Amino acid sequence: FGRYIEPDSDSATFVSEQEQWEKHQIEKSLSKPFKEPSKSLTEKEYDYVLDTDEIDFVMEETLFEEAKADELHKFLDESERKKSTMKQVRESLPIFKYRQQLLDAVENFQILIIVGETGSGKTTQLPQYLYEAGYCKDGKKIGCTQPRRVAAMSVAARVADEMGTKIGHEVGYAIRFEDCTSEKTRIKYMTDGMLLREFMTEPDLAGYSCLMIDEAHERTLHTDILFALVKDIARFRPDLKLLISSATMDAQKFSEYFDDAPIFKIPGRPYPVEIYNTKAPEANYLTAAVTTILQIHASQPKGDILVFLTGQDEIEQAMENLTVACRALGSKIAELIICPIYSNLPSELQAKIFDPTPEGARKVILATNIAETSITIDGVVYVIDPGFVKQNSYNPRSGIESLQVVACSRASASQRSGRAGRVGPGKCFRLYTQHAYMNELEDNTAPEILRVNLSSVVLTLKCLGINNLIKFDFMDPPSPELLKLALEQLYALGALNDKGEMTKMGRRMAEFPMDPMLSRALLASEKYDCANEMATIVSMLSVSGSVFYRPKDKKLFADRAHANFVITGGGDHLALLNCYNQFVDSGYNMQWCFENYVQYKSMTRARDTRDQLIALMERVEIYTKEASGEENSELTSRNLNPQEISSKSEDIRKSLTAGFFFNSAKLGKSKEGYSTVKRQHTVYIHPSSCLFEVKPQWVIYYELVLTSKEYMRQITEIDPKWLVELAPHFYSKQEIEDSSKRKMPITRK
Ligand code: CDP
Ligand code: MG
Repeated sequence: FGRYIEPDSDSATFVSEQEQWEKHQIEKSLSKPFKEPSKSLTEKEYDYVLDTDEIDFVMEETLFEEAKADELHKFLDESERKKSTMKQVRESLPIFKYRQQLLDAVENFQILIIVGETGSGKTTQLPQYLYEAGYCKDGKKIGCTQPRRVAAMSVAARVADEMGTKIGHEVGYAIRFEDCTSEKTRIKYMTDGMLLREFMTEPDLAGYSCLMIDEAHERTLHTDILFALVKDIARFRPDLKLLISSATMDAQKFSEYFDDAPIFKIPGRPYPVEIYNTKAPEANYLTAAVTTILQIHASQPKGDILVFLTGQDEIEQAMENLTVACRALGSKIAELIICPIYSNLPSELQAKIFDPTPEGARKVILATNIAETSITIDGVVYVIDPGFVKQNSYNPRSGIESLQVVACSRASASQRSGRAGRVGPGKCFRLYTQHAYMNELEDNTAPEILRVNLSSVVLTLKCLGINNLIKFDFMDPPSPELLKLALEQLYALGALNDKGEMTKMGRRMAEFPMDPMLSRALLASEKYDCANEMATIVSMLSVSGSVFYRPKDKKLFADRAHANFVITGGGDHLALLNCYNQFVDSGYNMQWCFENYVQYKSMTRARDTRDQLIALMERVEIYTKEASGEENSELTSRNLNPQEISSKSEDIRKSLTAGFFFNSAKLGKSKEGYSTVKRQHTVYIHPSSCLFEVKPQWVIYYELVLTSKEYMRQITEIDPKWLVELAPHFYSKQEIEDSSKRKMPITRK
């Protein structure tokens, strides 16, 4: 292992002269030298821990010029700075010098494009500047949108801190299923999706004096729709100030779109970052990432590590592997503090990533793309970039939507490496070759609006009275094919009539901040008298990531525990319902979760989501037992036991089918793969499904995930007759009969 960094070894290419010099500088300026990297770790031990070869990096390029000594000193002073007052911290941000100029520009122009490096202070400072300059005097609010919920929450917490107030008072946030604002709130951070929903209740957004559409470069679906809507209201509300802020320099497009709005560039350049690429491609980037973390930890000077992974599951896996490795290495390595950050991370754990790293320890942050530009974590010196991102993609031809792990773009790679150079000179380890960088990555990520299912936003737009979508002022118009598909889907769900107008059903569906298929299933539950149960299932589905926990060394125990939730003749949805009900019966008990290999934090989130959902259901007058106050009567006892679920199974599954009939598949001849009913696309049951062994003839699924195969996740067995019964616009009797002729009829109940 030591070979990897020893200058006299054969991987000496790794150690650049600059690095030697940096190390020397750092050591010179410290009274106490850095703890020398642990050399006692033998290769054998290392292999034992990781069961993998070490990774050989080669430094291919130096992005920026050499670091200057005074920059290094600033870096070392960072921890001192932390201790100083908030005011000083605020004033040390690059944006501070331009405070007055920015305010003047806002005064003079209605729309302003603001561009500045990540961490320069756009998100946290600009709303405060506006607030201080009196833009909230008449009781109006300043709104700031974020593409990600975690960013909205963590930034709001930070700004509340800086302003010396409690979160939810002057500074608040709103994310789906969670509103942390009050009458007092003047600065409101929210997800872009939440602001979009506000248009439904307040079409001119009269409550706001300023709106900041932040992270514009991300081009999320909701942000793109917001662009058009805010541009429109700005025309008839001259008092409304609009800020469009972005981390990338390519702001010309924004300016042109917003009628040549001026661009304000916040100067400030990150520190130099050395880029290392692997010499050869890595077979397993997760393993490679963990290996690299340990290599850095054991060999490199002070500085935290930021790793970009694609999602919660992957992050949890990496945490587990890393924890095991650290335990095995024991005192041979310094303390390594592992901090995950992803969109569904409970808020109490989010703050941890911002805690300063104690002396002698090192922090490793395992993050999704959220750390690319949305949040800045000080102290990061090393970035590990496997080069992947999880993306939603939609094929309008096949009508198939799936989550895929794809290579990130070069623009992303450059943002990621930039994270290493915020507080001082840094290093970025790319777990792919330079050749892959040059030849396999796209320049930029395509805007989401060009590659996802649009039915949800089309429903929202219809709800806002925007009927002619072809004429809608999109920054990048989606293909007519995508729009047509969304309209067809909404029609099949009964949200639009054959003239493309909103139906009563559509209006009710639009009340729910979720996919139209989910809201349709929820609304169908009214007819089948299982609203409570469907609210639970929808909440459990909304907690993305896995509810069930399956540690490597206890797989058997976990599987046995999870098998207990399975309802015969049901499927994953009913297992989720059963699991939640038992959680309620346990008194929301953490120990119960532990014993049953269920993630406690996912369950509490499902509970919160469910509470919000019940309130929304009341608004559209869906009968739920809670809402009608009958919770305690014996007949309508809130929780069905497994037998009761089983007897209600058909009603619940029919409700689900009313929303998810698009996602139907039937077992193929080989008894292995399934074929989607409409388009004969081959898909498989995910191994985590409780129906994996059962392989029913007909199923509906919640989502498709593409890894080695196209997998269906969260599956329920259905009777094919229901498809025609519940979606007559979509399936003909003939179609279903033809495809079942050759198949055995469903016999199991
Ligand atoms: O938006 P932009 O990337 O320009 O910067 P920002 O998010 O406003 O962050 C400015 C600074 O605030 C960061 O460099 C962090 O030091 C600090 N910050 C923090 O400590 N905790 C947060 N939750 C957010 C920001
Ligand atoms: Mg920001």
